[in-house]
This record gives sequence, structure tokens and C-alpha cells, in this order.
Amino acid sequence: MNSQIIALAADHGGVEMKALIRQELEGRGYKVLDLGTDGPASVDYPDFADALAAALKDGRASRGILMCGTGIGISIAANRHGHVRAALVHNVTEARLCREHNDANVLVLGGRTLGPEVARDCVKVFLDTAFEGGGRHERRIAKLAKPDQA
Ligand code: RB5
Repeated sequence: MNSQIIALAADHGGVEMKALIRQELEGRGYKVLDLGTDGPASVDYPDFADALAAALKDGRASRGILMCGTGIGISIAANRHGHVRAALVHNVTEARLCREHNDANVLVLGGRTLGPEVARDCVKVFLDTAFEGGGRHERRIAKLAKPDQA
């Protein structure tokens, strides 16, 4: 059993991919905090980004994975939160680099734009890759603080 708790959230455009990713994570021994949505009914992606941001903030999960149709809306919504570094990725190279260089704590996938095999690979790489650290990456991440929090 992996002790990390991974939060998942999606709108209706990402709900099928969320089910796939949940199965993948549970199969690999992760605990999953599934924040919905749970069906095809139309919902608003900012509500699900906000729910996942809250779960990271209060420690219910250590990392998150968000999905909407393209991944665009829900990543914009997630990055409004100062403690979230959400990376919308389309391939495993981006999934690796968002951890190594950006220390992303949220992976974002497009449920209607990314194939299931690529999505699964992105999740694996995202969760298995460490932040590279080092002066230049840490300095840049420090500069990502919202202007009103700096
Ligand atoms: C919902 O139809 C769609 O707009 C949403 O899932 C997402 O793609 C927005 O960025």
C-alpha cells in the first residue's frame, strides 16, 4: 500500500478519464480521495478545482489530478490558488518536467483530448518523478507567489 493520498476531481468532460485513473491508482496501491463529479450531468469545472485545492490545503491529500474536457478550464481555475501548481500535460515528457522543474503538485489531463494509454503513463511519471530542486528551479518557483502574497 502506498501511503500517499491522491485527490481526483473532474467535470463532466473528464469524468470517464477520472474513473480510469482511479482504477489505475488503486491498482498501484494509492489511496484515492475522489471529489467528483460522478456522472455525465453538466457541472462547472471551477467548483471541482476549488474542491481539490481545498483538499491539498487542509492535508486530506498530498497531490491531485484534475480533468475536464481539454484540461484548460480546470487548470486555469486551479492555479488561482496560491498553494497549487497545476500543470496541464499532453505527454510523458511534460509530465516528467512539470515535476523536475516546476514541482507541480497537481497534474491536469484533457479527458476529451488525451488517449487513455498516454493519460495512464502521464500519471505514473508524474507520481514517480521527484522535484530536481537546486537554486534555479527553487528561485523560479518562489517567484510564482501571487503578487498579493509576495
Ligand atoms: C465542458 O463542456 C468543457 O468546456 C470543459 O470540460 C473544459 O474543456 C473547459 O475547459
